[in-house]
Amino acid sequence: MPEDHFGEQVAAGYDESTETMPVEPTVDFLAELAGDGAALELGIGTGRIALPLSERGVPVHGIDLSAAMLAQLRAKPGADRIVLTEGDFADTRLDRTFRLSYLVFNTIMNLTSQDAQVACFRTMAAHLEPGGCFVIEVMVPDLQRLPPGETVRPFQLDAEHLGFDSYDVAGQGMASHHFFRQPDGSWQRSSIPFRYVWPAELDLMAALAGLRLRERWSDWQRSPFTSDSRQHISVWELS
Ligand SMILES: C[S@@+](CC[C@H](N)C(=O)[O-])C[C@H]1O[C@@H](n2cnc3c(N)ncnc32)[C@H](O)[C@@H]1O
Repeated sequence: MPEDHFGEQVAAGYDESTETMPVEPTVDFLAELAGDGAALELGIGTGRIALPLSERGVPVHGIDLSAAMLAQLRAKPGADRIVLTEGDFADTRLDRTFRLSYLVFNTIMNLTSQDAQVACFRTMAAHLEPGGCFVIEVMVPDLQRLPPGETVRPFQLDAEHLGFDSYDVAGQGMASHHFFRQPDGSWQRSSIPFRYVWPAELDLMAALAGLRLRERWSDWQRSPFTSDSRQHISVWELS
């Protein structure tokens, strides 16, 4: 099992740290694709997306390796409608198929090797019913903003929170480092490793798994994906 970077402390503060993120456009998009079928969320976390999606009448199943994140989800109203499996979404096999499988909020990057990302696509393809789709929301690697020779980019600088991304360009790796100010004035550090991944590389992983690109947008409202897009929403379907 991969290392769990979403332990008790992260899980306890997760909802507060994501409370300003819009949820409705994501849920609208996913509900439309699920139609009258069921959906599988990889890295379901505390149910930020899964709970409102299941409120729309979509049966949702979720996989996550963090017991602490799943405990937060299980404590919420409506969680009893969601079937949960604790495991690694790169290779956890469930005994059923889905109309839709989705992986939002850069979570594909939590798989820190190409092999694991490829395995994830293969696992997902095996879980799709005919005509089913796999959706990923992920950032476009920010390398255009990394000056030559530099390896660190700040993304948050305020009195309570300092955040830096560090890059290992040769290994296509990055890590996000957070420093949170504590009530006693000290700073607490946490670092999460990622593997950044290009849209074309994801398409190749999809092709290896028997999927083909159906749509690519720069946001959940279906704005066009362009050279300036900082993230993409991609939809692959069984070919
Ligand atoms: C950034 S959070 C996203 C949670 C939720 N999808 C959301 O949008 O709020 C990433 C989640 O993926 C889970 N995760 C990361 N790597 C995983 C893996 N290999 N297998 C299963 N879950 C994983 C983490 O435990 C965490 O709950």
